[in-house]
Amino acid sequence: MQMHEERIYLDNSASTRVDERVVEAMKPYMLDTYAVATSDFAYTMGIEAKEALKEAREKIAEKLNADSEELIFTSGATESSNLALKGVMEKSNGDHIVISKIEDFPVLKSAQKLEKKGYEVTYLDVDEEGFVDMEQLKDSIKEDTALVSVQHANQEIGTVQNIEEISKICEEEGVLYHTDATHTFGRLPLDVEKLPIDLITLASHTIHGPKGIGALYIRDGTELQKQMDGGFQENNLRAGVENIPGAVGFAKAVELIDEEENERLKQMRDSLIEGIMSEIPHTVLNGPEEKRTPQNANITFQYVEGESITLHLDMRGIAVSTGSACFSKSLEASHVILGIGGDHERAHGSLRFTFGRFNDQEEVDKVIEETSEVIEKLREISPLGEGEEV
Ligand SMILES: Cc1ncc(COP(=O)(O)O)c(C=O)c1O
Repeated sequence: MQMHEERIYLDNSASTRVDERVVEAMKPYMLDTYAVATSDFAYTMGIEAKEALKEAREKIAEKLNADSEELIFTSGATESSNLALKGVMEKSNGDHIVISKIEDFPVLKSAQKLEKKGYEVTYLDVDEEGFVDMEQLKDSIKEDTALVSVQHANQEIGTVQNIEEISKICEEEGVLYHTDATHTFGRLPLDVEKLPIDLITLASHTIHGPKGIGALYIRDGTELQKQMDGGFQENNLRAGVENIPGAVGFAKAVELIDEEENERLKQMRDSLIEGIMSEIPHTVLNGPEEKRTPQNANITFQYVEGESITLHLDMRGIAVSTGSACFSKSLEASHVILGIGGDHERAHGSLRFTFGRFNDQEEVDKVIEETSEVIEKLREISPLGEGEEV
């Protein structure tokens, strides 16, 4: 078994290593202040727990330029998106919802479930770089449309949508707008004072925070039907004992992110894309060159299977993935690559490299070198041959 120091982990959009400073911040809330926040009326430890939760909420809300009352904690991005979509539709008079075709599963499956229950869903197409067409979006909104859900950035190909324009269209049309910001929160600016976004899904474990905690930003006045019944926690929108160590860790993770780090991720991303595309023939960059998240590179290697590449790279101590975390176990072709017009071969030969705080340039150079060797070997034995370009 290799120690983690020897491994190169480039799957930071699936999840990240928790920063030690985050672990330190969380510890007191597991070992000393372990009361629940709703015990604040009964004893001091409850008051302290409530105070910690309040502070964590304030720190995270501040990053969005939101009021802390507009943020509720959940168990993660999956739950946040489920609550946003189902919660809005169950409360609203409208019965039509609009999403993009390349949303990750929490949004996609929530919309499909709503569809089964009789709601109407419009699935917006995307262009070859993954961008939603604004005209199609405008045309899709009808009198009974209650919600539009288009992600901030894509989980696989990193495309950053024009949420400025999307949110303004929704505002003009008088429909609510939800965005899944799992891969952008902390990495790209997001300001609810500047943009009329009504609901935002936030994750912690993609920015070196703990798993099992996430949040949903809910603009003041937006009505939601509670999905998790029980107690009155989280503004009576999400029952269950609050995950205080998680919330504290999430807030610490947010505090630790800075512009310099994001710039460093971008440089590693560009260096990897440049290195791989110049050294390895028959490669295609998936997603745009410019408007992509700082941490994401997604490349198709023609004539080879993505699964074979990941297995060979893993034997060399390099962890990368073929799709999003939610997707990687499925052998079905990625709906994202198919959505941007790729065929099954392109979808199966694509690899996602995603960067985080603990990567460095030396690792990038090594990954380029090892990937070149692996691709060369696999192509020699590939049954796909060098036929049609994919
Ligand atoms: C865009 C996006 N949203 C939501 C999720 C689910 O996140 P979580 O596991 O935190 O619930 C993922 C997981 O990879 C994702 O990529």
